[in-house]
Amino acid sequence: MEDIPTPAFEHGKPYPGTDIVVSFEASRCRHFAECVRGLPMVFDVDRRPWIDPDGAAPDEVAEVVRRCPSGALQYRLREGPDEVGDDITSVEQLDTGQILLRGRLAVRTGDEVRSETRMAACGCGASSMVPYCDGACVAG
Ligand code: SF4
Ligand code: FES
Repeated sequence: MEDIPTPAFEHGKPYPGTDIVVSFEASRCRHFAECVRGLPMVFDVDRRPWIDPDGAAPDEVAEVVRRCPSGALQYRLREGPDEVGDDITSVEQLDTGQILLRGRLAVRTGDEVRSETRMAACGCGASSMVPYCDGACVAG
């Protein structure tokens, strides 16, 4: 029997807003900073909690979450469609070795299959959470 993929949203810590819930899986954040650049009133690392989903319109928050290359950020609109991965799967390797993927992905980890729309995969072999990059490539 095929494993049923669990949505990436369910692995993050939820930050509930009125019309949108943002989830954040800290171990996958590779500090690309798309979030803080895109909506600094929503994503502010100097504030606790650092995510305020009500800091902008829900569609704007969703749009910026979809820019997060690592997939650390996910969202669910309370009334609206879930994120759908890009029709065409794209793969890009950075100089660090990190492999950025976008699409409709089923990612097998040790004990489950996860559905992803965006992820930073390890391309250097040093990650402790393969197939995801854990930042070992850029540490130190
Ligand atoms: S856009 Fe994603 S990977 Fe980049 S800093 Fe924000 S949460 Fe982390
Ligand atoms: S590419 Fe980042 S740990 Fe391997």
